[in-house]
Amino acid sequence: MASRKTVRDDKQLSFDFGSGSSRMSKRKKKSAGSSSKGKRTAVKTKAKPKAKAKSKAKAKPKTKTKAKPKARAKAKTRGKTKVKAKTKAAKSTRKASRARAATAETMAEKQRDISISEFFAKNRHLLGFDNPRKALLTAVKEAVDNSLDACEEGHILPDLTISIVPVEKSDNRFTLNVIDNGPGILKEQVPNIFAKLLYGSKFHTLKMSRGQQGIGISAAGMYGLITTGEPVQIISRTSSRKPAQHYHVQIDTSRNKPEIVLDEECEFALSTGTSVTITLEGRYQKGKQSVDEYVAQTAMANPHAKIIYNAPDGKEYKYPRQSKELPFIPVEIKPHPYGVEVGVLYKMAKNSKSKTISEFLRKEFSRVSPRLAAQIAKGAKLSSRLRPKKLALKEADRLHEVINETRIMAPSSDCIGPIGEDHLIHGLKRVVSARFYSGCTRRPSVYRGNPFLIEAALAYGFRDSSDNGDPDKEPMMQLKRIANHVPLLYQQSACAVSKAVLETNWRNYGLAQSKGALPRGQMVLMVHIASVWVPFTSESKEAIAHYPEIIKEIKLAIQECGRKLGMYVRRQKRIKQEEAKRGYIKAYLPAIGEALRDILVLRDRQVSILVNRLKDTLERSRKF
Ligand SMILES: Nc1ncnc2c1ncn2[C@@H]1O[C@H](COP(=O)(O)OP(=O)(O)OP(=O)(O)O)[C@@H](O)[C@H]1O
Ligand SMILES: [Mg+2]
Repeated sequence: MASRKTVRDDKQLSFDFGSGSSRMSKRKKKSAGSSSKGKRTAVKTKAKPKAKAKSKAKAKPKTKTKAKPKARAKAKTRGKTKVKAKTKAAKSTRKASRARAATAETMAEKQRDISISEFFAKNRHLLGFDNPRKALLTAVKEAVDNSLDACEEGHILPDLTISIVPVEKSDNRFTLNVIDNGPGILKEQVPNIFAKLLYGSKFHTLKMSRGQQGIGISAAGMYGLITTGEPVQIISRTSSRKPAQHYHVQIDTSRNKPEIVLDEECEFALSTGTSVTITLEGRYQKGKQSVDEYVAQTAMANPHAKIIYNAPDGKEYKYPRQSKELPFIPVEIKPHPYGVEVGVLYKMAKNSKSKTISEFLRKEFSRVSPRLAAQIAKGAKLSSRLRPKKLALKEADRLHEVINETRIMAPSSDCIGPIGEDHLIHGLKRVVSARFYSGCTRRPSVYRGNPFLIEAALAYGFRDSSDNGDPDKEPMMQLKRIANHVPLLYQQSACAVSKAVLETNWRNYGLAQSKGALPRGQMVLMVHIASVWVPFTSESKEAIAHYPEIIKEIKLAIQECGRKLGMYVRRQKRIKQEEAKRGYIKAYLPAIGEALRDILVLRDRQVSILVNRLKDTLERSRKF
């Protein structure tokens, strides 16, 4: 039995090391008897008594091997066999790997294009599909974001139905269905939209929208296909006069191309709209970072949307429309000259159809008037008749320098739309019932040439919880981050919003705060960033990058809300203190009456009149 084990060990080695293995196992047997090498290793192991003890223990079963009496004896005494085998194995590995060294030719044979979908299928965590719970949330988020975007683009008040149904006889599969009343999708666009990564209408436009990259919904479909093998099912209708189209599409990851599994006409209850169904592996769990939380926050950030959510546990959540007004409809803008980098400027000039540099600057950028364009061209020492196509790289460099030295009006703000202070507070009221609310919408600002706008709102003092009076026992403030009307639930600590909140001194506003921590208090703070391009830290769109301009604006918005909060908190403290004082005085009033009776020799009636008068004065002098 023991000898068979030894043989198996050798086989294992030959499997591990490929062609060089037989030679190696022979050498191993030889070296087992070689005492000189054994001694060398023994010296090494002496220096490490722990390692020695370990190798002794490991070598124990080998000592049973009858085929190697010498090795057994040595293992018993010094435990060298294992160490020796390891040294040999390492040497052989080195030799074996040397034998298989790659050449430029063998390496060239392996070079090939990498399909974008294959890349993201391997790196699905980059898209937010790193674990089943997050995957379910990401899929819901991508479909809902698209539906809300489509309705807004079509100037339609959104009616959304989100349903998640567990797949029968499976505890980790769900069927997700999102139905919207948007403008629908043209027949020929459906396969590419749902089964091709990097295909979308928003990437090339500078306009505020929830989607940006052209990856979202196709990535969710790809995840569903990989984890369950089921294609994405789409029903879309673009007009009440046309029938709805029903598709089943799936992505061919090796080519990043769509495959149509089913294409037919069908019935659809809505006159226009889209229904997307994805079957995927996931996990439904309530609490923070859950789908329930995401839907609640989406309703809060989109008061113009009506949302019905059928959760996997059979519960139905209804979020009625809070505002019948269409939200601000952003317009598309051209890039601002301040944001453009030299390489981009050079490429834009090469691709431009304009006849002169001035015309190029005027037509391709926002906020450049004919006079300003001529001034920039002159400053860069470029002929006003120079064709942009003929611009040399050095000239582009000069042009770029002059652009950054010239004063140009800030980008227009009609490309970004705030939720609005009132709607933000309304939204907060939907999720928390508090004693105090405050909100603030900042004026638009610019980072890297992209306009953005920050809003903040806070709710303080929850009605349903008791105030224990000890600020250190208060819960941590809850932070809700929203980017272009989309709640962000993951990577809070990596986000610019968290950085700004942590760097704000909340003690100024009457809240307790330890160094480097969120403030303590029964408070929810909501921060919204609206921008033509939200600088997310990754493709999964979970955290905002730390641009100093953005952090500064967030801090200013928080400070504005904080100041109002500070006033409220201080007032509440004063009321409490005054009430306490009033309580003391009230408690002593009967005693004062008694004392006055003795000093002034008063009758009972006179005493009670006096005490009541004192009580009255106390009440009338109330400051708050
Ligand atoms: N429900 C829908 N109704 C109408 N058009 C849609 C719908 N869903 C998706 N689209 C269109 O499909 C395109 C691709 O969607 P996808 O989610 O893949 O990318 P995106 O929204 O542009 O960007 P992101 O990757 O950031 O989500 C969108 O740009 C939009 O034009
Ligand atoms: Mg999208």
